[in-house]
This record gives sequence, C-alpha cells and structure tokens, in this order.
Amino acid sequence: MTNGQPHVTDETPAWAALRSHYETIGDVSLRTLFANDPERGARLTVDAADLHLDYSKHRVDDETLDLLVALAEERGVAQHRDAMLRGDRINTSEDRSVLHTALRLPEGSSLVVDGVDVVPEVHDVLRSMGRFADDVRSGAWRGHTGKRIATVVNIGIGGSDLGPVMTYRALRSHADTVDVRFISNADPADAVARLDGLDPETTLVIVVSKTFSTIETLTNATAARRWLLDGLGIASGEHLTDEAAAAVSKHFAAVSTHEDRVRGFGIDPANMFGFWDWVGGRYSVDSAVGLSLMLAIGVEGFHRFLAGFHAVDEHFATAPLRHNAPVIAALLGVWYSNFFGSESKAVLPYSNDLKRFPAYLQQLTMESNGKSVRADGTPVRSSTGEIYWGEPGTNGQHAFYQLLHQGTRLIPADFIGFVEPNADLPTADGTEMMHDLLMSNLFAQSKVLAFGKTADEIRAEGTDEALVPHKVMPGNRPSTTILAPRLTPSVLGQLIALYEHTVFVEGVIWGIDSFDQWGVELGKQQAIELMPALSGPDSPVDLGDSSTTELVRRYRAGRGR
Ligand code: F6P
Repeated sequence: MTNGQPHVTDETPAWAALRSHYETIGDVSLRTLFANDPERGARLTVDAADLHLDYSKHRVDDETLDLLVALAEERGVAQHRDAMLRGDRINTSEDRSVLHTALRLPEGSSLVVDGVDVVPEVHDVLRSMGRFADDVRSGAWRGHTGKRIATVVNIGIGGSDLGPVMTYRALRSHADTVDVRFISNADPADAVARLDGLDPETTLVIVVSKTFSTIETLTNATAARRWLLDGLGIASGEHLTDEAAAAVSKHFAAVSTHEDRVRGFGIDPANMFGFWDWVGGRYSVDSAVGLSLMLAIGVEGFHRFLAGFHAVDEHFATAPLRHNAPVIAALLGVWYSNFFGSESKAVLPYSNDLKRFPAYLQQLTMESNGKSVRADGTPVRSSTGEIYWGEPGTNGQHAFYQLLHQGTRLIPADFIGFVEPNADLPTADGTEMMHDLLMSNLFAQSKVLAFGKTADEIRAEGTDEALVPHKVMPGNRPSTTILAPRLTPSVLGQLIALYEHTVFVEGVIWGIDSFDQWGVELGKQQAIELMPALSGPDSPVDLGDSSTTELVRRYRAGRGR
C-alpha cells in the first residue's frame, strides 16, 4: 500500500528519467502547451481501426511521450505482447496461456499452441452457437410445451455477467426477436425481480460459468430451474424425473469449460457451449459467454462484433509503440497514476446505451491489475491498478462533474462519443437534433476541463469580486476523447479490445500477472464457512474476531434465531 506509507519508487533508468522530467512539465498548463503548438490538436491523435483517439488534452509534450515510450521499451511491452499473442504461458501463477485474442481470429487463420491449432476449435464452437441461435431466433427451437422462445435469462456473475449485460444494453438497437434479462447477485431480490412476469413456457435460461462451481450462479440456476418446473406443473425435486429432464433440456443451456459439472446439474451437454482455460472470465464476452448477445443480435452481428476486436488486435500487434493506441492509453494511465499520484480515472461515455461500460471496465482493470506483488512474487514498486468509474454524459454532468472541474483531486477522464446516433430526436424548438446537443456537451466538457477559466476572465465579465474565487475554473485537467463513427457491434468490439490491451500494457509496466485473481478467493471461502453460523441451530460462541461474532449474533437475533 502507498497510503500512509513511504511511496516505493521504481527507479529504473526510464522511470528515473520520467521522474525528473515530471519536475519540469508537471506544472506546465494545457493552455501553454496548446499555445506553443497550434497543430497539437491534430498531431496528438492516433487511429485504431474506426476509433479516433485525441490525447492532445494531456499534460505531456513530445519529450514526455518519448520518455514514456522508452519506459515501454525498457519493460519489454512489445515482447510481452508478442508472447501473449503467440500463446506463451504468461499467466504464470496459473501456468496458463492468455489467448482471448484467439477468440476473434478469422476462420482459416491458424494459431498452434502446445501442438493444437486453436482456431478451428474456436470456430467449431462459434458454428454450434450459431446453429442454436438461428434455431431459437427463427422459432425452430420450441419450449417443452411447443411455444417459441421470447425471453432469454442469462445467469452468471463477474465476467460471466458483466460482459453479456454491458454488450446487450450497448447493442440494444441492433437486437430483435428475443428479450434478454440477467440474474447475477446472491441477493434473492435479483432472481425474484428478473423472473417476475416471465412465462416459463417461452423462457430459455443460459447458465454461464467458466468453472460451473460459482455459488451465486449455481444457486440462482437452481432457483430458476425450480421456477420453470413449477410453472410448467412438473415436480421439481433434487433428482430430476424424466419429464423434468425433458423440460430442462428445452429450456436450459450452459456455457462452461466443465462438461461434467454441467451434466451433473441436469443440463443436456448437447446444449452446452464450451471455451478454454486460456480465456479469463473478464476477457470472455467474445467467447461462448456472449451467447445471449448472439441470440439478441443474431449470428451475423456477433461476427461483426468479433471482427471489431480483431481489427484493434491487429493494430495493437503491428503499430509502432509511439502510434499504438492501447500503448499510448496505458502509458498515460501510468503517467498520472505513478507520477501525478492520480487515484482514479473517469470513463464518460456520451451514449446512454454504454451505461454499463464503466462497470464492465472496472472488473477488467481492477481484477487484472489490483495486485501488490509482481509476477515473480516480489512486492510491486509503485501503485498499480487504475480505478475506473463513471456514468454516461450528460447525466454525470449534473451529478459528479463539479468535483472533476473544481475539486482538489486530479482525475483524468476518457470521453467516448459517436458521430452518428443510433436514434435521434429534434430538440425542444425543433430546429436542431438531440444528438448534436449531446455531443456539444462532450466537446464542451473536455474543453472546460482542459482550459478552465481564469480569475481575470471572470472579472472581465463584471463578476462581483467576492464570487470570483468560487467561479474560477482551474482547468489543466486531462482527458482523452475517443470518437467513433457509430455504436455498432464492430465498434463495440473495438472499444473493448482497446481497453483490454491498455490494461495489459499497464500490467507489463508494473511487472504483474494481470490474468489471475487470487484476491477474491478467501472471501468466497469464508462466506461458505460462515453460513452455518448464520442459519444453524446454535448461536456462535467465537467466530475468530469479536466484530464478526457480534454482527452474526445480532443478525441471528433479528432473524429470531
Ligand atoms: O470471483 C471472481 C471470478 O472468478 C471472476 O474472475 C469470474 O469472472 C467470476 O468469478 C465468475 O466465475 P465463473 O464464470 O467461473 O462462474
């Protein structure tokens, strides 16, 4: 930890050079940087497939960028990237390859890992997902009572939920035929609310779990199976009768890497779609984990989604570091986190359909890079793991932007906007369109954050002197603007891949294994161990610490136990 403890520094030559450069540029304002270089807004940009990244509103000059790229070279970013892409076991603590990029390799390409070409396997699964999706969408697939499927319920958590939820919402305007709902939380309110009003005869449940052992998912899946069988008037005991098994086979599918566990749950393996241990949960929405998205937007749309990822993968694999969008984004993340001491980054999509994008990215960055030891087990030498948070604009403007503009913390921001809307409406007087209003807000916010308004400029407007300090807008608050043509399946894939590789590069610079998540295990284990103390017959005497013991006693008393 760095808070309250001396900051551990990472004084390699490239790091030291950045630290001394920071002493000279740290206080230079964006106003000055722009005044000194009229071309800056056109020059400090990079294009990756359809994504245009304007990073000119960052507190960097050409020397900063050269030094940051030197840091990437010193840390071997290109070599680590190539190792990941060719399937080396870079997830060392789990001894696994990291091959989410193989999930979007085009059919006919080849990637041999441990003697096996993984690309045909990926496309075999995509084809069986496609057949299933086509059948459900066309109505060829019928429920137990002969009705076609109207609603899909995706049950999963973490990477088996956040990706499907986020992408379904983002591509809402491309969806037709079936509605999708999502159940994830151990809170029973989630399953109760999401199943409410559904007709079991027309509902298809997809249970998504890489391990098929996650307690929330198995508990919710069991609740959904009970709900379905009860609704169909079929007995639903622990062991399924033949009739129950027949009904379940028409209303349940699974996505997992564990066929034995799927079968054990009572789901027909013919309705199971697999993936591989080289796909991490938070990198899995482009695997069979995205089945609910495929059901919503169709097979063709899903392939365009994958092609979008692949286009950015190609850019990441081939563009020089200095012109490589994920590399630049990662280096800027390191610049603010480790040199300016920024504690978080705001992700601000100017798209209501991207409402869940910041939450999706939180798992990506925080589960990947929230680590205190490096891959070799030694302590990290700087703070790690960017904290992302955010909400769509313009809503956020009326909630938390005050702190972004005038607060004491430096919070870099990513603005994400689209040239073409997926839907538009006229403004109140009918002379303009709402999408232009939305985008003018995006451009205005990044401008005000960067350039602010000085006390003299405020005085010049005749403002009462007592109010001047309150109205000063300090500016010099950095942001990237990501501008894309339109929120399509391809562009969404591109955006996800951009952030995936950004997080990867940051992990390489910090020297950590971005692909394990040991930190979530102890809490899961202790929850299971604590269950009997909450619901068992006897009040606990000692749960190891007086706080937990007293809280559990109080809980039991409230429940009349
Ligand atoms: O608890 C963390 C985690 O392992 C995530 O990494 C993962 O996305 C999630 O749980 C769900 O895991 P599974 O897909 O195996 O149910």
